[in-house]
Amino acid sequence: MWGGRFAAEPARIMQRINASLPFDKALWREDIAGSKAHARMLGDQGILSADDTREIIDGLNRIERDYAAGNLPDDLALEDIHMATESRLAELIGPAAGRLHTARSRNDQVATDFKLWVRGALEAAGETIRDLQMVLVEVAEQHADTVMPGFTHLQVAQPVTLGHHMLAYFEMLRRDRSRFADALARAGECPLGSAALAGTGFPLDRDKTTAALGFDRPTANSLDSVSDRDFALDYLTAAVQCSLHLSRLAEELIIWASAPFGFVRLPDSYSTGSSIMPQKRNPDAAELVRGHTGRIMGCMTSLMVTMKGLPLAYSKDMQDDKEPVFEAHDLLMLCLQALTGMVAECAFVPERMRAAAATGFSTATDLADWLVREANVPFREAHHITGRAVKAAEERGCDLPELPLATLREIDDRIDQRVFGVLTVEASVASRTSYGGTAPVRVREQVARARAELGI
Ligand code: ARG
Repeated sequence: MWGGRFAAEPARIMQRINASLPFDKALWREDIAGSKAHARMLGDQGILSADDTREIIDGLNRIERDYAAGNLPDDLALEDIHMATESRLAELIGPAAGRLHTARSRNDQVATDFKLWVRGALEAAGETIRDLQMVLVEVAEQHADTVMPGFTHLQVAQPVTLGHHMLAYFEMLRRDRSRFADALARAGECPLGSAALAGTGFPLDRDKTTAALGFDRPTANSLDSVSDRDFALDYLTAAVQCSLHLSRLAEELIIWASAPFGFVRLPDSYSTGSSIMPQKRNPDAAELVRGHTGRIMGCMTSLMVTMKGLPLAYSKDMQDDKEPVFEAHDLLMLCLQALTGMVAECAFVPERMRAAAATGFSTATDLADWLVREANVPFREAHHITGRAVKAAEERGCDLPELPLATLREIDDRIDQRVFGVLTVEASVASRTSYGGTAPVRVREQVARARAELGI
């Protein structure tokens, strides 16, 4: 393509370090779409003759069919998908192929192709997150009344409902979806027509190519257009935050599925056995979701470090932008789909959860709140009285609701029989009716809100 000023062929190792074809052939659809939009616009502007335009479009259509049938180029000498397609076009239609690259550079071409691809990935991520949200809402509705221990510091804190716990993840994923949607809105500017870096003297119609490719408007600065990879970083940072949420859910499933917890039985279809221990059911899928999060973070770090300190405009370092995004996207989709399948088929064990919720003096706060409400005790003092009740229960080896009234009254004689009404885990969750609280009535409201938001 640039043979004019070179006397020697590139070294074989030069071809290997230089070529991006092995991975950027994944952009073939976007590349053909970009070339067709560019050629049509050049034709409309009278920069290409009608004949040349037709020949180019016909040729690109043939290549498109050929690629779609699986015949993608792989000769490293072709360097990248842009040159590979152009050289194939030359084989098919001859000299007219050489006119396609008028008023275009691979710099604006690759920025356009990649941005189009990332826009697709942003949309796909949003939709796939939605699938997991739907499953979470199902489980939340089914288990709006299922009591489980809520933890802080992984120590039993206060009873909550499983429905409430599932909806906590719904909220995280809601923010994730909005991050992908924001990124998509920001990636609406089309770089095509910026040429190498400075724009071009040809009378382009950038609005036309912008519309043909489904962008919102053309980029406003040609230097920025070919230097910018923010859209890819936006994808990666959103993916990192999403996968971080997924890893927390995965971790909880791993803990809950362990024998000492026994809160959930993971589906056979998402578990593996051990080659030596016949009893094992390992939560491999959840562990890999947890693990893949590290790799997705690595992808983000990789592109950030690549971009850091690069002078304007295009530098070849930027060719390293694609693989981390492709990798992160594959991993994120896999993690989302695996968790969706897994959560949908999990068998939760309400008896185990309820029993665990009643350990660890989980209703101590309810006793303190009762003293405040019924006996007008200041909360700090109520906290202290309750601490003594917990100590007494600990010494007797029982839980709070099992303490004899006499023992409670020895601690503080303002306590009476009615207190036992608030010390069960069911009473505890039912009382947490503040907006966003764990009470089953509130959880059901939030399920309804979530359904409305998902349009189901
Ligand atoms: N393969 C290159 C990339 O992926 C295309 C752009 C090359 N431009 C250039 N001036 N060498 O970034």
